[in-house]
Amino acid sequence: MTSLTASHAADLVAALLFILSLAGLSQHRTSRSGVVYGIAGMALALVATVVMAAQSITAGAVALIVLAMALGAAIGLWRARRVEMTQMPELIAVLHSFVGLAAVLVGWNSYLEVEAHGTAQTRIGADLLGIHHAEVFIGIFIGAVTFTGSIVAFLKLSARIKSRPLMLPGKNALNVGALVAFVALTVWFTVSPDLPLMIAVTALALALGWHLVASIGGGDMPVVVSMLNSYSGWAAAAAGFLLDNNLLIVTGALVGSSGAYLSYIMCKAMNRSFLSVIAGGFGIEAPSGGKEEQGEHREVRAAEAAEMLARARSVIITPGYGMAVAQAQHPVAELTRQLRQRGVDVRFGVHPVAGRLPGHMNVLLAEAKVPYDIVLEMDEINDDFADTSVVLVIGANDTVNPAATEDPTSPIAGMPVLRVWEAEHVIVFKRSMASGYAGVQNPLFFRENSSMLFGDAKQSVEEILRALTGDGRHQESAATRQATTAGR
Ligand code: TAP
Repeated sequence: MTSLTASHAADLVAALLFILSLAGLSQHRTSRSGVVYGIAGMALALVATVVMAAQSITAGAVALIVLAMALGAAIGLWRARRVEMTQMPELIAVLHSFVGLAAVLVGWNSYLEVEAHGTAQTRIGADLLGIHHAEVFIGIFIGAVTFTGSIVAFLKLSARIKSRPLMLPGKNALNVGALVAFVALTVWFTVSPDLPLMIAVTALALALGWHLVASIGGGDMPVVVSMLNSYSGWAAAAAGFLLDNNLLIVTGALVGSSGAYLSYIMCKAMNRSFLSVIAGGFGIEAPSGGKEEQGEHREVRAAEAAEMLARARSVIITPGYGMAVAQAQHPVAELTRQLRQRGVDVRFGVHPVAGRLPGHMNVLLAEAKVPYDIVLEMDEINDDFADTSVVLVIGANDTVNPAATEDPTSPIAGMPVLRVWEAEHVIVFKRSMASGYAGVQNPLFFRENSSMLFGDAKQSVEEILRALTGDGRHQESAATRQATTAGR
């Protein structure tokens, strides 16, 4: 009785710590404490669960649990130390797949346990058997969809498979048909819980998860990542019901609902409805491949960029995925300091889906100690570009593409973007004329007021810094070169 009460208290404290963690993670300033609350909550939850389990299982089984936890912790620490910031989305996708797989295994285990021993050795009353069967089915279904969906997301995000959507004929009918079949199978299973139905629902859900994510286009991947985050939460909650673990139910519901809210924010940021994301196809290049003649682009050297910046009254920096690849955040932060010391008004404009995971740019800028108050969201800064001397587009592409607002035939038409082209001068830092994540040509590069600064973003910013601080060794000729699109 005492340990049961202690376990309930531990569950309650851990759940509160998770809520505090979510609250902390919602702001830069408090994000560190958010992480600490999360770690404390999880440590407490693990200890409480093992202590509770130890009362009803053998010492050997406890030793096996501790061994599995130690192994998992060692692998987790090893991966966390090695992972690059740019690989975080794919790592998150893999972790979601583990949650899905765990929910499937818990579901199967729960079914086989009741099959083998009846309800006598479980906490399930005979009158609740139908509900238990439905729980097993729902848990396996959500878990299996999360499992294969996350694997496809991992393969797409790590570029192991193409991010273009799979367009099977009648794909929406296939998805809806799978859902209808699931409901019918669940009803059948509660009446007659037979093994073939378990196999059928597992196979159906594995295929649905694969198809669902495979048919979503590259442009919608931000929504997919947060959608799978939500699914993994519901899968964990379903496992919580089966294991009779209240904390797992609460934690799963927290992850499920916060992931669903994040999906809503992502959909809003991309001006998409959730259903149209599921229906897929966003970000498919037009048949022409968008390679039609766009005109000429101009190039600028680092030294000339430095001159422009030194003369500027106001500067907005719009970072994107390329800043993360180049790890350019530290020189960018130093450039910001140098310019502000010279009295230039410098601010950052961050697009909600810049980079490859929610908050990607904010994390990098915070790591480089850029003051929070000059890092603004797209909606806060979009009207200010027209009154800005120079915009530095550092490794961003899709998020600054004017075609999204100006070309209704563009594959990304309707997606809100940073209106950088309204500024006096735009300098685009990238290595080539290649397109961004959505594979769509960017007319910004050919605008009269745009210049390309080719090269790795970190090296380019460092060259600008050297030119600004008067280290002449790296200064280059002042002539702006004209180049044709064919060159890169
Ligand atoms: P992207 O459109 O992905 O473009 C990044 C650009 O960075 C590329 O054009 C690339 O051009 C350049 N780049 C790469 N490495 C570089 C380096 N070392 N130095 C300089 N430039 C480099 O970037 P974005 O504007 O941030 O847009 C994000 C895209 O990812 C959106 O389409 C979004 O939907 C998608 N997405 C976002 C998320 C989330 S949640 N944020 C998740 C999945 C997908 P070069 O190769 O020519 O250098």
